[in-house]
Amino acid sequence: MQRIVEVEKLDLEKDYEISLRPSGWDEYIGQEKIKKNLQVFIKAARKRDEALDHVLFFGPPGLGKTTLANIIANEMSANIKTTAAPMIEKSGDLAAILTNLEEGDILFIDEIHRLSPAIEEILYPAMEDYRLDIIIGSGPAAQTIKLDLPRFTLIGATTRAGMISSPLRDRFGMHFRLQFYTHEELAKIIKKASYKLGCLAGDDACIETAARSRGTPRIALRLLKRIRDYAEVADEKEISQKRARYALDELGVDELGFDEMDIKFLELLIEAKSKPLGLGTIAATLSEDEGTIEDVIEPYLIANGYIEKTARGRIATPKTYDLFRLTQKRKPSLFDHEGGNLYE
Ligand SMILES: Nc1ncnc2c1ncn2[C@@H]1O[C@H](COP(=O)(O)OP(=O)(O)O)[C@@H](O)[C@H]1O
Ligand SMILES: [Mg+2]
Repeated sequence: MQRIVEVEKLDLEKDYEISLRPSGWDEYIGQEKIKKNLQVFIKAARKRDEALDHVLFFGPPGLGKTTLANIIANEMSANIKTTAAPMIEKSGDLAAILTNLEEGDILFIDEIHRLSPAIEEILYPAMEDYRLDIIIGSGPAAQTIKLDLPRFTLIGATTRAGMISSPLRDRFGMHFRLQFYTHEELAKIIKKASYKLGCLAGDDACIETAARSRGTPRIALRLLKRIRDYAEVADEKEISQKRARYALDELGVDELGFDEMDIKFLELLIEAKSKPLGLGTIAATLSEDEGTIEDVIEPYLIANGYIEKTARGRIATPKTYDLFRLTQKRKPSLFDHEGGNLYE
């Protein structure tokens, strides 16, 4: 079962994501600070004719880490090789990747917090000195062979800042934490994507959709695609706010972008009456994986002040208590819907 506001990629999405993925800065909306900094560092590296220093991106899924890696490659006119930490199981896997790099190449490792310590060890000299130390044999007869590597740039992405070992983190020359997007930024992203998809969305429709996208471009684009389906079936040329609102309601995404899981999570905290709840308890009660709760559900709720994480556990904020009091009066259906449309 997948949530409509799921942020991990669904298989179907890979193709359209690539076609909608910005390839240059002009199309990359928001994250202004990161953009500005990277533009300077890229310019400087190009001027010196050097590889860019290693870059690490932190942030919840769907905010544009992979996109940034690809834009950097474009701007550096460099080749990019993409892999993910779970695919690098043995030291030989990483050695093969590294020895295949060419001068100036970019190596993008997604989910880099999942590298095993043994693999990290190999990465250190490669990052620092462009050197690969290969150990042949074992015990007293073991030998180390040192190979020179071309100057390359490692770009790492992770949803878990806290899970990266500090020796690895320290070897990245630049660290960037991606922020959730504002409604205005998301509305712009939706507008541009609607042109690309050939289904113009009106300004109000873009804003309506943006507000329900949990601050996340991947969700905004997914919602737009669904809304387009509704508009097409209704033979509507330009997507109106009314159509967007109808489609979003049908999809079970409420005005704050919350879906059933967010609501259940917040209700649980409210029922606990200010008693902090531990991650384990929450995960068990919601039958949800702890990692998903920490990486996907919580960051948005924390960033928007709906929950707080204390040393003793999670609590709902006054904002959440107010919200639930208000919505319960105004719109009780929000809490009783069975979520038939929430999942695909
Ligand atoms: N700043 C942005 N401007 C426009 N589109 C974006 C932006 N960030 C992300 N996207 C879109 O959202 C989708 C998800 O972004 P992605 O880079 O894959 O996220 P992440 O790697 O952080 O999970 C991409 O297909 C891209 O089209
Ligand atoms: Mg990614």
